[in-house]
Amino acid sequence: MKSINVKAEKNYQVKVGVDFATEIAEILKHHNKVFLIAPSSLLKKFKIKESRNLSIFSTPEGENQKTLTTLDRVWTKCAAIGIKRGDAIIGFGGGATTDLAGFAAATWLRGISWYAFPTSLAGMVDAAVGGKTGINAKSGKNLIGSFYSPSEVLIDTNFLGKLSARDLSAGMAEVIKCGFISDYKILNLVQDEFLDYEELIYRSIQVKAYVVSKDFKESNLREILNYGHTLGHAIEKDSSYKLRHGEAVSIGMVFAAELSRDLANLSDDAVLMHREILQNFNLPITYPKKRWPRLLQAVSKDKKVKQTKLRFIGISKIGKPVWFEDVSPTHLSKVYERISS
Ligand code: GLY
Repeated sequence: MKSINVKAEKNYQVKVGVDFATEIAEILKHHNKVFLIAPSSLLKKFKIKESRNLSIFSTPEGENQKTLTTLDRVWTKCAAIGIKRGDAIIGFGGGATTDLAGFAAATWLRGISWYAFPTSLAGMVDAAVGGKTGINAKSGKNLIGSFYSPSEVLIDTNFLGKLSARDLSAGMAEVIKCGFISDYKILNLVQDEFLDYEELIYRSIQVKAYVVSKDFKESNLREILNYGHTLGHAIEKDSSYKLRHGEAVSIGMVFAAELSRDLANLSDDAVLMHREILQNFNLPITYPKKRWPRLLQAVSKDKKVKQTKLRFIGISKIGKPVWFEDVSPTHLSKVYERISS
């Protein structure tokens, strides 16, 4: 087991290579009552049952669980089972579950302990680490939430064996992103014939932990984690969420690399490397030409837009992020030509 320290509004450990059952038993020893939130499919698959001090909440699958209705049902059950200040919530599942569980913990009794147990690769390297918790609003994804760190993030890499090839690849997009913004070694490791997932997860979390520890509330440095995400979010939405987050970010990273070639002299080789590595994981790297007007509209509404200026994260070389503060729509359209199909 390896562990990484995150310094946010409180210090906590991300433990990589733990055993799920052992950790649950440990958490149960430390709290009078524990309330585990997980999608029904996972509860069935891992035969998780309630016990004397373990209560369970079964959520809908995927993004459908990040709603006010589900959160209200969680609060109602917290009240029914009598969850108090010293008790704890566990989020067991993908990023949607840990987002919901963390926000339930942030809001119940103005904040109780919570543990993140991510089961997807994207959850392990991104969603569960960094303390962003929340639900979706009718007006948009992740608009309601709180920065609220868990007591621990516990990563049992055996869960990776249960993921589909598509979900694994989508998670790899966030790993590859950490390589491009900060850690060249990740880019070497992802090109190995046999992937060392534990090392890749560990290195990606080290990148995220460093960034979050310097800028928890995303006033500047944390924005680098959004490499590929500005266009990525727009594509994800435009695909009506048929594309996985990582798949949309993959296209967004090629776009950000092309933009970086123009605005920060990113080398042709580095741009090509984006395409080759992402394609090796069967990740998409193009998007239909005719969707551009809609994408531009969505990009203009992105959370990173300041005073109507279109802002993007780029890189000037591998491991060197840069901020593009005011990119013209005409330039963006030209860059989109190079990634459209
Ligand atoms: N997923 C980007 C962040 O946590 O800031």
